[in-house]
Amino acid sequence: MQTFSLIPYAEPIPAPVEILVLFEQLFFLIHIILINLILGLGLILLYKWNRETNFFLNNKLIAKKIPILFAIGINMAIPALLFLQVTFGHLFYTSSILMGTFWILIIPFLILAYYSSYVHYKKFDISPIAKYALSLMIIMVFYIAFMLVNNLSMMELPEKWNAYFTNRDGTILLWGLPSLYPRYLHFIVASVAVGGIFYSLYFSKKDQTKKQEGLRIFAYATMVQILVGIWFLISLPKDIMLKFMGGETIATAILLLGIFAAIVSLIFALRTNIKISLLFLILTLISMVINRYNLRIFHLEDNFRLSQLNLVPQWDVFTIFIIILLLGIAVIIYMLKISFNKTNEVKK
Ligand code: HEM
Repeated sequence: MQTFSLIPYAEPIPAPVEILVLFEQLFFLIHIILINLILGLGLILLYKWNRETNFFLNNKLIAKKIPILFAIGINMAIPALLFLQVTFGHLFYTSSILMGTFWILIIPFLILAYYSSYVHYKKFDISPIAKYALSLMIIMVFYIAFMLVNNLSMMELPEKWNAYFTNRDGTILLWGLPSLYPRYLHFIVASVAVGGIFYSLYFSKKDQTKKQEGLRIFAYATMVQILVGIWFLISLPKDIMLKFMGGETIATAILLLGIFAAIVSLIFALRTNIKISLLFLILTLISMVINRYNLRIFHLEDNFRLSQLNLVPQWDVFTIFIIILLLGIAVIIYMLKISFNKTNEVKK
């Protein structure tokens, strides 16, 4: 079939594919939680602007955290990207080229978003520019997320690549793909939920009203998310949807576990029990990352299987990579500790 012939040759992999996929998904989980936090907190602050008494005093330290979370979020995306390239690189590069014009814009827009988050914090309580900076950051994040959802969806659908023969401008996006919209919305609603629970956590020892408010944001967003999730599921091709609905036992069990954990989490949020709510939220997030991975495998089934990858072990290189990665993470954790301690010291 023509689709298959469009898929480039895959490079050999340096370590067993299970290890690579595990790392890819682990870093994706960390990356997406942090990105959810940036967007969620950004949206919450924007909503509260001019609506809350003592807004600037209450939220300055949250504004300060956004650039820090941003930096770590991007740092954690890099290992995810590296592992994705090793395992699905031949698919990911192709889809990146097909939408290259929009894709390359991610870099300047990311820089703009990052600087905006700093301007927002620095000018937070002294200039109206802060609100514009925050809005710009949010718009840029919306753009980047939309392109990532497009790219990762296109990567999973080589049958869509034929569009290249009628459009070589690097402007192919999957506007006609039914699952694109709920997939994107799923990310945005998750951001509001994760932002809400963080907001609550942040105020949990300082202000009970705000703690409750954050948990309510989380709970309502999660209720909406259940609807978006159902929309996402029914927007998938029927054969894949059925795999998640009993066709594949493990995939179905993981999806059900995720939905169950989300419901428990929202019930405890409404009861103002942040610890249990957070615990079940983590379970939900893990389940959702696995669901997303299962979806990728189901989509690709006819065109590519991980077992096709040729293993040529390079344990020395791989070990050096892992050591450097761990050192890098240790430095980030250290940086975080310092910056969050400083945050507590500088109560401004
Ligand atoms: C504000 C900036 C960013 C936002 C809003 C964002 C958002 C997202 C979203 C929504 C997804 C999931 C897409 C889907 O599958 O539907 C994703 C995945 C991913 N992002 Fe980010 N991202 C950002 C920055 C970055 C950067 C700078 C990189 C690269 C260094 C990156 C690397 C990745 C990778 C590799 C994945 C897929 C991981 C996997 O499938 O295993 N992201 N991101």
